[in-house]
Amino acid sequence: MTEKNILPADLEALKDEALAALGKLAAESDLAAWKMHFLGKTSPVMQAFARLPQLPADIRPEMGRKANQVKQTLEAALNAHMEKIAQELVAHALESESLDVTLPGRKPRTGRLHPQTQTLREISRIFGDMGFQVYHSREVELDEFNFELLNIPAHHPARDLWDTYHVNIPGAVLRTHTSPGQIRYMREHAPEPIRVILPGMCYRYEQVTTRAETQFNQVEVLVVGKGITFGDLKGTLIDFARRLYGEKVKTRLRPSYFPFTEPSAEMDVECFICGGDGCRVCKNNGWLEILGCGMVHPTVLQNGGYDPAVYSGFAAGMGPERISMLRNHIEDIRYFWTNDIRFLEQFS
Ligand code: PHE
Repeated sequence: MTEKNILPADLEALKDEALAALGKLAAESDLAAWKMHFLGKTSPVMQAFARLPQLPADIRPEMGRKANQVKQTLEAALNAHMEKIAQELVAHALESESLDVTLPGRKPRTGRLHPQTQTLREISRIFGDMGFQVYHSREVELDEFNFELLNIPAHHPARDLWDTYHVNIPGAVLRTHTSPGQIRYMREHAPEPIRVILPGMCYRYEQVTTRAETQFNQVEVLVVGKGITFGDLKGTLIDFARRLYGEKVKTRLRPSYFPFTEPSAEMDVECFICGGDGCRVCKNNGWLEILGCGMVHPTVLQNGGYDPAVYSGFAAGMGPERISMLRNHIEDIRYFWTNDIRFLEQFS
C-alpha cells in the first residue's frame, strides 16, 4: 500500500491485519508497540485523516467515515485486549498464590530434655530444697587441682584409678572427677560455711563397657563448717536417697578409701530389681552402689583455706547416669551419650 492513495478498502484490510496481530499479543510492552504501529501518528489510519482535505469531495465523506470506523474499532479492540491481559494476570496470581486453609496444620516437633539433664535437675532440686547452692566448676583442670591438692601426689597409685585425657596445655587434663571443684569453691569462700553441689562432666580414659564410659556426669556434694560430723554426712545422704527414690528406700554405708576423705565410705541402695534377694543387675549381692563419700581430709581443708583444727566437712561424689540406670532399668551406660534418638525419645 502506498501512502498516497489509501482507499477505504485498504483501511478495511488494515483493520483485519491489526486485529489478527492484536489477538496474538500477550505482554503489555507488545501492546504499546502495536498501538504505535496501527494507531500512531504515522499509521495509515491517522495518515488517512491527515489527507482528508486533499481528497476529491465525492470520496471524502466515505473515506472519513471509514477511517473513523477503523480507528474506533482498533481502539475498542485494544482496550478489550488490555483488559483481558490484566484479568489473566490477576487470575494467574490468585491461583498461584492461593492458600488452602483446609489443609491440616503441621505439628511443630517439640524437643525434650536429655534424660541426664532431667536427672541432674532433679538432683539439684532436691539439694536446693535442703539449702545447697549449685556451682559449675571447670572441665579442663590443672593436674594440681585434679590430683595434687586432693592429696594424690604424682606417682601415687590412686592415680591409676583416674587415668585421663591430657590437654595441649602443660599441666592441664580433662577432670576425672568433680572433686577438684571442692578446692576451687573453698578458696573462693573461705572461711564461710559451705553447702554446695558441683555437677558436671568428667572424663576418664577407660575401656568402655556396659558400666563404664569415658565421659559421664558427677555431682559433688560439699559441706564445710564448724562441728560438721559423720552423722551430718549420713543424715544428709540418706535424706537425699529418700527424696530421690522414695521414703522406703534402704541404704547402707560401706567403708572405703579415697585419698581426699578420711574416713571414707560408699553408699549403696537396696537393689530395685530383686528387692535385695540378689539378681544379675546387683551381681547377686542385693545392693547397688550410688556414691562415694567421706569426711574431708584435713590436708584438703587446708589446701582450700580452712583450718582443720577449727573446721570440718564432708564430701560425696555420685554418678547421675548410675542413678538414672537404676531408676529406669537401663542396662548399658553407653546409651546416654551415643545420641540414639530411639533411646532419648523414651524420656519425656
Ligand atoms: N571423686 C570420687 C570419684 O570420682 C568420689 C568422691 C567424692 C568420693 C567425694 C569421696 C568424696 O570416685
